[in-house]
Amino acid sequence: MDLRWFLLALFLLGCCFSPGLSFNGEMAEQECPDECDCHYFRINWVTDCSDSNLTEIPYDELSMNVYVLDLNDNLISEIEPFPPDIKMRRLQMADNRMTELKKESFTGLHYLIDADFSGNAITKVDPHVFDDSAGFITLELQNNPLDPVEGPFLSISTLHYLDISNCSIETLNDHFFDNISALETLDLSENPLKVINTRSFEPLTSLETLKMNHCNLTTISEDAFLAQHNLKTLELSGNYFVRETNWEIVFSKLTLLENLDLRNSHFNHLTATLFDQNHYLRTLILAENDLSEYDVGDTVKNLANLETLDLSYCNLTVPLSEDTFANATKIRSLYLSGNTLFASDLLVALSPLTNLQKLSLSKCGLRRLPDTFHKFKSLQELDISHNPLNDAFVKLLAPLATLEYLNMGYSNLSYLAPTSFSKMTSIRRLVLSGNDLNNLEAGLFGNLTHLESLELNFCGLRRPLNATLFFNNFTYTDLTELQLAGNPLRVSKTGPLLPKQLSRLQTLDLSNCNLTFLPPDAFFWTRNITTLVLAGNHFNSPNDFHFLELLPKLEVLDLTYNNLTSFAPKEIEFNPQISRLKLIGNPWKCQCSVADLWDWAHMEKGDLSILEGSTIRASDVTVGKLKRKRLLVCNYDGRVSLPIIMNKTAPGRKPFKQQQRTISASNRTWAKYVRESGCEPSPVFLHARATRSVGYISAEGVHMKLAQHAPNTWASAIINASAIYAVLITVIGVLFVVTKNRINARHADKNN
Ligand SMILES: *[C@@H]1O[C@H](CO)[C@@H](O)[C@H](O)[C@H]1NC(C)=O
Ligand SMILES: *[C@@H]1O[C@H](CO)[C@@H](O)[C@H](O)[C@H]1NC(C)=O
Ligand SMILES: *[C@@H]1O[C@H](CO)[C@@H](O)[C@H](O)[C@H]1NC(C)=O
Ligand SMILES: *[C@@H]1O[C@H](CO)[C@@H](O)[C@H](O)[C@H]1NC(C)=O
Ligand SMILES: *[C@@H]1O[C@H](CO)[C@@H](O)[C@H](O)[C@H]1NC(C)=O
Ligand SMILES: *[C@@H]1O[C@H](CO)[C@@H](O)[C@H](O)[C@H]1NC(C)=O
Ligand SMILES: *[C@@H]1O[C@H](CO)[C@@H](O)[C@H](O)[C@H]1NC(C)=O
Ligand SMILES: *[C@@H]1O[C@H](CO)[C@@H](O)[C@H](O)[C@H]1NC(C)=O
Ligand SMILES: *[C@@H]1O[C@H](CO)[C@@H](O)[C@H](O)[C@H]1NC(C)=O
Ligand SMILES: *[C@@H]1O[C@H](CO)[C@@H](O)[C@H](O)[C@H]1NC(C)=O
Ligand SMILES: *[C@@H]1O[C@H](CO)[C@@H](O)[C@H](O)[C@H]1NC(C)=O
Ligand SMILES: *[C@@H]1O[C@H](CO)[C@@H](O)[C@H](O)[C@H]1NC(C)=O
Repeated sequence: MDLRWFLLALFLLGCCFSPGLSFNGEMAEQECPDECDCHYFRINWVTDCSDSNLTEIPYDELSMNVYVLDLNDNLISEIEPFPPDIKMRRLQMADNRMTELKKESFTGLHYLIDADFSGNAITKVDPHVFDDSAGFITLELQNNPLDPVEGPFLSISTLHYLDISNCSIETLNDHFFDNISALETLDLSENPLKVINTRSFEPLTSLETLKMNHCNLTTISEDAFLAQHNLKTLELSGNYFVRETNWEIVFSKLTLLENLDLRNSHFNHLTATLFDQNHYLRTLILAENDLSEYDVGDTVKNLANLETLDLSYCNLTVPLSEDTFANATKIRSLYLSGNTLFASDLLVALSPLTNLQKLSLSKCGLRRLPDTFHKFKSLQELDISHNPLNDAFVKLLAPLATLEYLNMGYSNLSYLAPTSFSKMTSIRRLVLSGNDLNNLEAGLFGNLTHLESLELNFCGLRRPLNATLFFNNFTYTDLTELQLAGNPLRVSKTGPLLPKQLSRLQTLDLSNCNLTFLPPDAFFWTRNITTLVLAGNHFNSPNDFHFLELLPKLEVLDLTYNNLTSFAPKEIEFNPQISRLKLIGNPWKCQCSVADLWDWAHMEKGDLSILEGSTIRASDVTVGKLKRKRLLVCNYDGRVSLPIIMNKTAPGRKPFKQQQRTISASNRTWAKYVRESGCEPSPVFLHARATRSVGYISAEGVHMKLAQHAPNTWASAIINASAIYAVLITVIGVLFVVTKNRINARHADKNN
């Protein structure tokens, strides 16, 4: 059976029959080491011990059912064998002090699928390190100083994804990839490889994505990609190619290639026949190469299937001729930013591209605009930002009745005629940021009746928008987003901030607006706001947050990077829909108000992840490049002498196993502070916990202590339902596998 489908089935089984779900349908509380923060993510037990100065893995207190074990950002240098029955699927050990991956450390991990050891000091990896993990798929080893490898690097027949970028690899021996031939994605970026020899990639016949960005490559052997029949994406940006490489032959092997990225790689070899064998080429990125000697038209005009072409910052000097895009008329997206272009050349060169949908001409030194916009019948996105435009030429844009996105940011504009946008009635997103537009003319936005988003960041505005900019007595029903960040607003003590026409506004960005307060009736006309961004202002504690009372639909409140030392749940008592409270970057004091907010999220809202930075989110769990996360921290003020010994167990909070704790740091994460502090939970929240436990089950990142304290039939019913659902999904998965195999078999018959 095809391995991939087997793995899918395995994964489905794994995800749905999570050991967290015991037979009677109760979600069992699992073990959790003292230093860690544990919770269910969906129905999987996540043990988050990241960023805790651990020097060894807390083996004794681990649940055998741990699904994700997150040990990122610790000081661990050795891994002892894990307990034999552990069912761990994913092990995250980024940014530790490992120096070697030894086979004995990972024996018995039969369920392991993914592992991340990026950012350690690993020099040696035993090729058989994951021999016990029959379904192992993803390995991340980026940012380690690997020693030179002789022979095969790894022996993992199921491996699909390998990231060994920035691992000091200088040469790839001919057998390096011998025993990982199922690999589909390989990232070799940021290794000083210099040259790619003929044989290195020979075993990798399944490869679909190969990344070799920033590898100091100077040459690639003609036959380097002889075996890569399936390669669809090749990234070679940030290299130093000299003229020796015979690109015509290199590319001729890659007949299925769809995406090619040669950004900033000293690529300097354009011929008319370069891509003759690459009939499926859809995306070509040549940005940031000096193509001043070439008439790009010679190459481009043969790329009849090209959809996206990026020629930004290419020093295009040969004037774009009328032939340039004559035969590449499928181009939908064209990026020409950062070349010095002339309106007159653009006028002729762009004329065949009548189907163009996206055009970027930012930073092209344009003082005037080509009078060609009336030819684009379906242009949807136009970026002419960062050009020293003369106010007078803006009127050439007027015919763009199909335009949906227009970026004229940072274009030296100081005056916009009231009729500038009068015909652009399709515009949905308009960006005018970075122009000194303190005096906006009455009626300017009147005809933009389909506008959804208006960006006026850094426009030197001293007053929020005036009602006269819009039609009188008209509600802009689509206008849901307004950005006014970075304007030094002067707000009066009373009165609405925004006019009645914007009553459908949902997202308002007032970050970095030099605000110290907002009047209580600030949102009198705009009560539908769901997202309010007040980051980077000067809100102090205590503050008058009465303006929040007019926002019953508020879901997201961003108060990051202000000057708050405390924030009480009662400030948001009129905002029952709140689901994200962003508070990172304030000088929080370690005091019981922190515990109050924690209990509010945890017990009343039933979802701790409402407090952004309190716990890991889905995106932190996904395999990717950067896993660092920002946490909510508070600091003890100078009056408290450290260390403090805590010995208290508060109801509703996870108790410590060891009763005595010594605090030795002046900054604590909120999670740890709340556990250590011994602050009494407010009776209000304890009551909420007893009466509202159903909500906890459906929320992500649930703290299961609660379910245990308040077992009830509703919760069990929901969990039973999800178990049935899980069985269904698995059955469907298996059927899918069977069908797929039939189809494959039929295919094989046909081919024979
Ligand atoms: C980890 O140790 C360092 C240095 O001793 C200290 O500054 C830091 O606060 C500690 N971090 C935690 C989370 O305990
Ligand atoms: C890569 O090449 C650049 C420029 O040639 C050089 O400065 C750099 O040291 C090289 N890096 C390595 C790791 O060889
Ligand atoms: C473009 O040309 C200028 C002068 O000829 C040169 O300084 C610059 O590095 C070139 N840009 C690129 C991306 O090669
Ligand atoms: C466009 O393609 C046609 C047919 O392939 C060819 O005859 C013509 O010369 C091409 N035009 C340009 C400008 O290259
Ligand atoms: C708005 O558009 C209509 C038709 O598209 C036009 O007649 C009218 O003059 C425009 N209004 C303004 C204020 O430009
Ligand atoms: C709006 O602008 C008009 C003049 O253009 C001015 O008289 C009025 O006071 C302004 N309204 C507000 C709320 O700033
Ligand atoms: C706006 O509405 C008010 C009250 O309904 C009315 O008196 C006024 O004439 C209207 N203005 C316009 C321009 O329609
Ligand atoms: C910000 O507000 C303060 C008073 O609150 C004022 O003194 C200062 O000039 C303002 N900054 C700017 C850039 O307007
Ligand atoms: C909020 O939006 C709804 C439609 O989504 C609309 O009916 C209502 O009038 C709006 N509320 C305000 C205060 O404008
Ligand atoms: C921050 O708030 C404190 C009082 O909590 C105050 O003393 C300090 O001046 C404020 N700092 C700024 C930059 O507003
Ligand atoms: C801490 O609490 C435990 C259990 O309540 C008790 O046995 C122990 O004596 C206490 N220790 C201190 C230092 O108070
Ligand atoms: C405590 O956190 C603040 C920011 O939240 C940071 O500026 C400070 O350096 C931290 N102190 C310690 C001892 O880690």
